[in-house]
Amino acid sequence: ELSTIKDAYRRSASDGSEFVIISAASGYGKSLLAHEFGKHVLAGGDIFLSGKFDQLQQGKPFSALAIALDVYCGILLQGSGPSSKVAEIASKLRSSLGNEAYHLTKLIPNLASILEGPEILAINLNEDCGNAQKRLQYLLCQLLQAISSTFSAPVTLFLDDLQWADQASMEAVLQLLINLGPSSQEDKCFFFLGCCREGELDEEHPLWKLLCNADTLSIEFTNIKLDMMDEQTINTMVSETLCLSPRITRSLSSIINHKTNGSPLFVSRLMISLGKEGLLRPSLCRRRWEWDKDKIECREMPDDVAMFLKKSIRELPEAVQLSLCTMSCFGASVDVTLIQTLERAMRKTFTGGLDIAVAKGLLDKIGAQYRFSHDRIQEATYNMMKDQYR
Ligand SMILES: Nc1ncnc2c1ncn2[C@@H]1O[C@H](COP(=O)(O)OP(=O)(O)O)[C@@H](O)[C@H]1O
Ligand SMILES: [Mg+2]
Repeated sequence: ELSTIKDAYRRSASDGSEFVIISAASGYGKSLLAHEFGKHVLAGGDIFLSGKFDQLQQGKPFSALAIALDVYCGILLQGSGPSSKVAEIASKLRSSLGNEAYHLTKLIPNLASILEGPEILAINLNEDCGNAQKRLQYLLCQLLQAISSTFSAPVTLFLDDLQWADQASMEAVLQLLINLGPSSQEDKCFFFLGCCREGELDEEHPLWKLLCNADTLSIEFTNIKLDMMDEQTINTMVSETLCLSPRITRSLSSIINHKTNGSPLFVSRLMISLGKEGLLRPSLCRRRWEWDKDKIECREMPDDVAMFLKKSIRELPEAVQLSLCTMSCFGASVDVTLIQTLERAMRKTFTGGLDIAVAKGLLDKIGAQYRFSHDRIQEATYNMMKDQYR
């Protein structure tokens, strides 16, 4: 699957633009695969813009696109990218958009520092919504084109969780595929990668329109469908995780396969939980992992990963559950500063609970941000709350 994406990426370098959609049920490894591809792109010194749509922000136009561009502008400003790029992109933006570029600064705060101008005229998205969106869509495309023109390789835009995407974002992606495609006059190329939960798109979903238009306009695209893991693949995963030969781990993998129906998310969560319960543990005298086959086999547990996660969260101390539930109302990731503001406003402490959740593998702490380690965990905690508390 990774080489299919790499091939499409290489083709976009010569043909102008192309896209790949990875689809599968939740927890089947879509995001992981996309990020593996991202590592490959970044290792080659090329550009990988990455953003994620959020279930709770479905009404907010361009959210994932704005995150991807804001993070990239932040990297440029920190100087971890080539320093001449900041000046080059700023000058291209000023010349192609003039003061209009400042309209983007509400969506992409880091862009303000790149432009360095005194004038800030950010568009108010609430007034004259339709027009403002069209204008922002045009400006976002211009910004991406300006970035693209500073690279010889294709600019990759990766948007995760397209099932929660808004219409305006999908239209912007189509526009980019057209503007930077084979028939465009400009010497630029663009590669779009999207992940989408299978079976969660209704008939009106904007992704269908993108696929339909791409077909009509003969824009190349590939759909990669990820399947559940078979027993042999699970055994490879278990044997690599435990650093034991596949022959030894086969009996354990067979039980895990049976209990998880081959969902990679479920497999990894179940192994973490077996480790916490001591049913899977390192043996100092044998210098290897060992497990209680019979106890694991008899262990009662839900046959669905969502229920399994909910049960694991319910077993946590109440204060940790409260911290997780509160955080789940604000999206897939939350800044520490927001948590501190909430602590002051609600006269409660959340950071301690969130740190315990990090230790339990339910959250990741990346820089000054807590992030749910999977959107299923956010959903599970959010769904545990009663409406009035949300
Ligand atoms: N190919 C794989 N090898 C090992 N673990 C995997 C693989 N794919 C997925 N996983 C496990 O499943 C979890 C969920 O994967 P993720 O990519 O977040 O799923 P999705 O985006 O489809 O919901 C990962 O965090 C990882 O633990
Ligand atoms: Mg995902």
